Amino acid sequence: MNRIFSGIQPTGNLHLGNYLGAIRNWVQLQSSYDCIFCMVDMHAITQWQEPAELRRSTREVASAYIASGIDAKKHIIFNQSRVRAHAQLAWIFNCVARLGWLNRMTQFKEKAGKDRENASVGLYVYPSLMAADILAYKATHVPVGEDQKQHLELARDIAQKFNHDFGVEFFPLIEPIIKGEATRVMSLRDGSKKMSKSDPSDYSRINLTDTADTIALKIRKAKTDPHPLPESVAELEKRPEADNLVGIYAALSDKTRGDVLVHYAGAQFSKFKAELSDLAVSVLGPIGAEMQRLMKDPDHVDAILRDGAERAQAIADPIVAQVEEIVGFLKP
Ligand code: TYM
Repeated sequence: MNRIFSGIQPTGNLHLGNYLGAIRNWVQLQSSYDCIFCMVDMHAITQWQEPAELRRSTREVASAYIASGIDAKKHIIFNQSRVRAHAQLAWIFNCVARLGWLNRMTQFKEKAGKDRENASVGLYVYPSLMAADILAYKATHVPVGEDQKQHLELARDIAQKFNHDFGVEFFPLIEPIIKGEATRVMSLRDGSKKMSKSDPSDYSRINLTDTADTIALKIRKAKTDPHPLPESVAELEKRPEADNLVGIYAALSDKTRGDVLVHYAGAQFSKFKAELSDLAVSVLGPIGAEMQRLMKDPDHVDAILRDGAERAQAIADPIVAQVEEIVGFLKP
């Protein structure tokens, strides 16, 4: 069976983009793949994190995975730092990846901003660690939102260069899975900006822990244009805020934008937003409630993560030992 690896940074404010772009797809894919889902805490510290908050947030993301329906017995859920193989392989990949490749990464440019000299070295080499996350398990498929596409292309380049440099067919070529109607959920305040954890306005995103009232309020206040909903997807695509809300509706109901428009063409936003709120609350409400319940039982969550890490390590350690052998490290 093909293997999936994917992860989310435990940096607070898990939002609808993370859910629709990643977690909801994972839940569907777990019947066809062996899956490893990670809280990538080593990635999180490429930017400053309060230690206590990092621990809380790691448990919160784990709770979101479980509450959304990931089966932690059949598949693996763990936090990255528990499995040393990630760091070991990342170092080797730092020596395979080229500076020129990393210089092209748009996410580094966005995150480092104007003060590039002051960004951590970890933030710069982040894509090598991401490649290591996936390839330490020889994962073949990686379900993510659209913003991770460039990182996955780099991971493919690293795998290919490693195979080529050492004359082996060791690493598989990674296939991204970027699917559904919400691969890039946009801010509710600005249809040209991605919904993100770091947006200073909480009204820009729906958090998985938001109450029903907050979800309804944020959708009611979401930016729109004055026209009724159009009849065709082509027309919709010219209206970023409308496109975003229809895309969210489609993803939450497992439909296409076209299906949603069949129902809502000509409708005013007041009606559409009210029904989108009901739909969002009906999907996210139970997940949020289950997350709250799990967060009250950290020992239970920790036990799941410990067990997941043991099983992850059992897969990754022999693979990384083989890599070290290929590279020529002298072993006992
Ligand atoms: P992160 O933590 O930024 O996001 C986690 C997942 O959520 C998706 N996502 C979105 N999808 C749609 N619309 C949005 N507005 C939106 N915002 C976020 C992301 O595409 C991602 O799938 N580098 C990764 C974490 C990572 C990883 C990996 C992923 C580390 N190692 C190995 C896959 C495989 C990241 O920062 O995701």
